[in-house]
Amino acid sequence: MSNWISNCTADALHEAAAKLARGALVAFPTETVYGLGADASNVEAVARIYEVKGRPADHPLIVHIADFKYLEQWISDIPEYAIALAREFWPGPMTLILKRSDLAQDFITGGQNTVGIRIPDNSVALGLLEAFHKLGGAGIAAPSANRFGQVSPTTAEAVKEEIGDYLSEIDLVLDGGPSEVGLESTIIDCTGDLPRILRPGAITIAMIEEITGLEVSKPSYKNSDDFKQETIRVSGSLENHYAPKAKVFLDQQPVDGSGFIALESINTPDGVIRLAAPESIEEFARVLYSALREGDHQNLDCIYIAQPTGEGLAIAIRDRLSRSAKGR
Ligand code: TXA
Ligand code: MG
Repeated sequence: MSNWISNCTADALHEAAAKLARGALVAFPTETVYGLGADASNVEAVARIYEVKGRPADHPLIVHIADFKYLEQWISDIPEYAIALAREFWPGPMTLILKRSDLAQDFITGGQNTVGIRIPDNSVALGLLEAFHKLGGAGIAAPSANRFGQVSPTTAEAVKEEIGDYLSEIDLVLDGGPSEVGLESTIIDCTGDLPRILRPGAITIAMIEEITGLEVSKPSYKNSDDFKQETIRVSGSLENHYAPKAKVFLDQQPVDGSGFIALESINTPDGVIRLAAPESIEEFARVLYSALREGDHQNLDCIYIAQPTGEGLAIAIRDRLSRSAKGR
């Protein structure tokens, strides 16, 4: 089993960065979900991410950096609207897909000519990244720290539960408390004339349109407001993903003895186990994954979820839920 650090002092982050530089894996908190980090320019270290996750090797990884100044080395081109997005929303829950430089090799991009970049908004993540850059590191590749297809971890305990058995003694888990957003970053393809959302998240269509003054291209909406991924290969876009062991049912009448997740304003039906009663859409996003995990801890067969309606973050929640409901 790997080491575990819950007091993330500057010294501890320096030690963690040194581990990354030596090729170890470091799981770390971000504001979205916990990531499983490796030196993004070290092919062997990145290969271990795939092993630990059990993820197919042709799925691209997001490169995390601490500051705008580290962006240039990873990319070969950036449109004006992407610069505007980066200035407005970084650090934050947004990943930009840009044309890659030679530094972004096939083992990061899955052989595509684009690279995903993000500056996370979390003090432990940024401290780790800064320390890693000081050691000469270019960026940290980090997918969500879960086994492939399963629920992303939003706490260090959940990381341990997911991948603890697959990490080795040289690896490290940094505990920075629960993730504030709770859903993975919005992924925006910035390689075309218009921004295009590949994965909805806390940076919403309205926010992107306001900052860029452009219409977000949405060839991918079904039923008027729901997100449907199409062409580009995004592993989180596989139909069955984000799935707990329990079977997930959406907007149906729950049967006795099953778990139930819904906004606080919705009463708990008789005979079901309330797993979460968030008061807002933001809280729904924040607690969703831990509520799904709690259902598994309680060995429930089924979890019923009343989906939040509306635009914005609710779209991201429904996107993940529709995939959870496809099962494992
Ligand atoms: O919030 C997040 O984005 C978290 C935290 C740790 O930063 N990371 C995360 O990584 O969710 P991951 O690997 O679980 O999901 C990233 C998604 C994958 O589905 C991957 O296929 C897609 O981003 N992706 C990465 N690079 C891409 C690229 N060049 N083109 C298209 N999709 C890309
Ligand atoms: Mg993931």
